[in-house]
Formats: sequence, structure tokens, C-alpha cells
Amino acid sequence: MTFEFIKTRIENDKVAIITLDRPKQLNALNTDLMIELGQALKDYDADIHIGCIIITGNEKAFAAGADIAAMKNYDFADVYATDFITKDWEIIRQIRKPVIAAVSGFALGGGCELAMMCDFIIAADNAKFGQPEIKLGIIPGAGGTQRLPRSVGKSKAMDMILTARMMSAQEAEQCGLVSRVVPLDKLMIETIEAALTICAYPRLAVLAAKESVQRSFESNLSDGVMYERRLFHSLFSTYDQKEGMDAFINKRSPLFKNK
Ligand code: HXC
Repeated sequence: MTFEFIKTRIENDKVAIITLDRPKQLNALNTDLMIELGQALKDYDADIHIGCIIITGNEKAFAAGADIAAMKNYDFADVYATDFITKDWEIIRQIRKPVIAAVSGFALGGGCELAMMCDFIIAADNAKFGQPEIKLGIIPGAGGTQRLPRSVGKSKAMDMILTARMMSAQEAEQCGLVSRVVPLDKLMIETIEAALTICAYPRLAVLAAKESVQRSFESNLSDGVMYERRLFHSLFSTYDQKEGMDAFINKRSPLFKNK
């Protein structure tokens, strides 16, 4: 499939890289872009050769938010009847393989929310995060009021969402919004390295690990721990568990088969 608003490529035969590609609009996220992103994510999730997916932008912007020019004339009937956001933005939540956001430049509004929908964020040292929707007379609409406080705590989330101030990459790392900050020119190298590390592990364990961590956001502690325990138990039925443990005991490299 050819795309207009994203670029796709595959690294080392196993890491899929999706680059948001509306540079003149700082990668403002319109419906067509989100449909393309959803399609690419679904295709890579279904491709057995792919072990990890990266979403990135360009040096100036990961994405400066939902496309304000496209939204400005919408009224309630338009957004409610068409299920604006829900319809095209939530596909990423169905993706079972790890999705890493590699963020440089602005990640604002829906751009910050998209990054937070990924499994973790690696930021370049020039990254800036923010939820400035309040300046436009709206509030975050793709999970920002829910995911940001879970990530950085209530006080900082309120500060960001109510004052619309931007957060530097360093502050984002300190408060746990991003997992690591790297020099801008190392962003893709380090993110691909992280993705390749994940790809080298048994696929079933990777899927189960992601599913279990995600569950922690959807359940109370005892339900979450039980969910984890059952997934943990189920991995003892896999070839790769036997292989991984045997390889360790016999001091050799494991040969995983993803089964
Ligand atoms: C449409 C956008 C845009 C956006 C930037 N552009 N952000 N177009 N939607 N979100 C366009 C500008 O209009 C401009 O087009 C070009 O990109 C370059 O932007 P400049 O403003 O000239 O660049 P700069 O001075 O460097 O400022 C960068 C910026 C600023 C600070 C990021 O562009 C900005 O504040 N953007 C809006 C950020 C925002 O409010 N995001 C939240 C959107 S609402 P021209 O044609 O003039 O060159 C949202 C709701 C989410 O995301 C709800 C659910 C998803």
C-alpha cells in the first residue's frame, strides 16, 4: 500500500519504522494521516517478520497536534456523529507488538497523546511535550487527561493541561513521561537498537509482557497480579521457555523459535 502522509521502512528485516510525514504542517495529525497510520500498524502487527514498530517524526516535530485547520469548522454534530478521534485514533491500542515512539521536536496536543499511546517514548534532547488544547478552547481528546496523570502524576499533569506550558525532554525524563533522553543525532540509532533488543527475545514472552503491563492500567492490583500470574504460567507451555532456561543452565546462546 502506498501512503501520502506517512513513510514506512523496515530495518534489519524486523523493525518497522513509520515516519509521520506532513513536515510543512509540523506533522499535524489529520484524519487521512491517522487512517494511514492505523493501516500500517495493523499490517506490521500481522507480519510475522516484524518484531517491533517505531513511530517517529522529523527533527522539528514528532507532531504538533491534531490538525487545527481541519477541525476549526467542526461542530458538535460533526464530531459526535462521525465518532471523531475514537474511529481513527484508537487502532494503536489494538496493536499487540511493542510500539516505541521516537520523539524529536514538538509533541503537542494529539502528538503528545499519540506518543503516550505508544508503549514507551525515547526522546531526543530537543523534544518538547505539551497539551496546549486549552488555548484553543478545548481539552485533550485522545486520552491526554487520563494518560498524562498516570504517567507524571496529578500535579504536573494539571500544570501542563491547565497552563499549556511545554515540558523539556529532561523534565519529561525526570517525571517518567519518557524512558530515556538521547542526543538528537542518536535518536533513531538508539531507538532501533532498543527495538532490535526486543526483537531478539521470544515473541510470545514479548507479547505477554506488553499485555500484562497494559493490564496494570486497566485493573486493580490483585486482578492485575492474577492476570500476570496466568500469563506467566502459560509461558511455561512454550518451546522458548525450555530453550531459554536450558541455554542459561548450559552456558550457551539460546535459539528461539517464537513458539
Ligand atoms: C495545523 C499546524 C499545527 C496544527 C502547526 N501548524 N501546528 N497546522 N494544526 N496543530 C502549521 C502552522 O499553521 C504553520 O503553517 C506551520 O505548521 C508551521 O508552524 P509555525 O507556527 O509557523 O511554527 P513555529 O513558529 O515554529 O511554532 C511551532 C508551534 C506552533 C509552537 C508548534 O505551530 C503551535 O503552537 N502549533 C499548534 C500546537 C497546538 O495547539 N496543538 C494542539 C492542537 S489541538 P503555515 O501554513 O503558516 O506555514 C489537538 C487536539 C487533540 O491536538 C484532540 C484529540 C486528538
